[in-house]
Amino acid sequence: MIVLTTTGCTVDAVLAQVESQRAWIDGVELRVDLLDESEWDRVGDLPPLLRDAAGEGILICTVRRTSDGGRASCDDARRLDVLRHAVGGGFDYIDLESDLADDEVHRELVAQAHEAGVTIIRSHHDFEGVPENLTVLLTSLPRSAGEIPKCAVTPGSTADLVRLLETAHELGDTTRVLIGMGEYGLPTRILVHRFGNLLTFASAPGESAAPGHLSPQSLAESYRVDEHTDSTRLFAVVGNPIGHSKSPAYHNGRFAWESIDACYVPVLVDEVDSFFRLADRLPLFGFSVTIPHKRTVMTHLTEAGEDVRAADACNTVVRVPGGWRGVNTDVIGFLAPLDEVLEAPLAGVRTLVLGAGGAARGVVYGLLSRGASVVIWNRTASKARALVAELGAIVQTSSLSVLPADEDGAPAETPPLDIVVNTTSVGMHGEGDPAPWYRFAGHEIVYDIVYTPPETPMIARAAEAGCRVITGDRMFAAQAAAQYELYRVLATADSADV
Ligand code: ATR
Repeated sequence: MIVLTTTGCTVDAVLAQVESQRAWIDGVELRVDLLDESEWDRVGDLPPLLRDAAGEGILICTVRRTSDGGRASCDDARRLDVLRHAVGGGFDYIDLESDLADDEVHRELVAQAHEAGVTIIRSHHDFEGVPENLTVLLTSLPRSAGEIPKCAVTPGSTADLVRLLETAHELGDTTRVLIGMGEYGLPTRILVHRFGNLLTFASAPGESAAPGHLSPQSLAESYRVDEHTDSTRLFAVVGNPIGHSKSPAYHNGRFAWESIDACYVPVLVDEVDSFFRLADRLPLFGFSVTIPHKRTVMTHLTEAGEDVRAADACNTVVRVPGGWRGVNTDVIGFLAPLDEVLEAPLAGVRTLVLGAGGAARGVVYGLLSRGASVVIWNRTASKARALVAELGAIVQTSSLSVLPADEDGAPAETPPLDIVVNTTSVGMHGEGDPAPWYRFAGHEIVYDIVYTPPETPMIARAAEAGCRVITGDRMFAAQAAAQYELYRVLATADSADV
């Protein structure tokens, strides 16, 4: 159930916001504290208007205090008075904090809610971390029959997220809402079913009523949260940072297009040991790995291909009986656009690779595995020599060498070349050319794996010289497509086979 948390400061703004999101929501949480106080007297009249704007769905009334991340700075008596009107006006739920004094005003409101059939959400917020004994805390929140406990806490690590999942397992089918706020908690907002939550809160695009809110459209259409069941197969992308990743949109889009019951979530990971516990407990069927974990995940693999060992990096992990298999689709993704443009075998093709970092390893390995000959140039020549030595120990080849450089770092002379590949970060954000010393003859294929922007200065210069060019976005698309193939097989396999 996706519930829009309103952020409008006038009733008209709230209604317009609800109307704009109605296609994707199953309910509305009216945040009275975000309304101008001059509008608070209208709260009791709002349910019919909200129902008109939202269509079907539940209505929650909340007057969040400043200490809980809201804006209501008035005393509790005033807040409870607004909630009394909400109960009388026809809201389905009201939100009451766990630490409210159990005075007469409170008791009357609870009794009035029970009489009117309004459910109380009993909430507890923690913006500092995840409290100890969360299961006990959550189950002890309700103060009267039928209250729904809600805990919004702030995981500060992947281990904290694992604790939330363990709490969810301990709680079984207790009706509740357990939210991890902020980026570490994002999976709790998406995997509503897996965390056993009654609902998930969302904010209209461009607004954020609480840390980590997604938009109703992204929850409904990209993550399809209302369709999840026990049999929905889960996949993830792990990294740090992770918010910028384009992978969830890509993989969820393809799952939805093919009506495959699977969901792909971003997981912020500070250390991989905890993440693997999460992957076992959710469980995940596979996941993509991005910076900075492409090497650290390798210690947890039970199987890895030569591509992973040679690249010394793993960007894709899939579940296999008894463990995890690592794959490097960056290698496949790098080669696929080259095959399309070259339209001929790579064997014997003369290639210059610029750079000797992590990305270069996979690129050089891919080229060597197809029989191309490779010379490496790197700003720091010693790293190029080290890469040649390391890859030479894995791939038996005489076609790999370092391009010697002058004192100023540029090569004294360059051999005839068919392909030039940039694997350095130079050119990212549209600045810099990694090989200003190289004059394109015009017959080379020039490939830049940088994809922001797709047209780097080197690509522009090569195209100007008449070269065929390959931009980094094509490699990204090809590696993502290769990953998706692996995930699609796992997402659709008979359960006996996975
Ligand atoms: P990645 O995993 O993306 O390859 P990396 O392992 O840090 O990242 O490698 C970055 C590569 O870009 C290296 O080859 C680096 O050259 P050095 O080994 O000399 O550091 C190269 N690089 C980064 N900034 C550069 C610059 N301004 N000019 C030339 N090369 C640069």
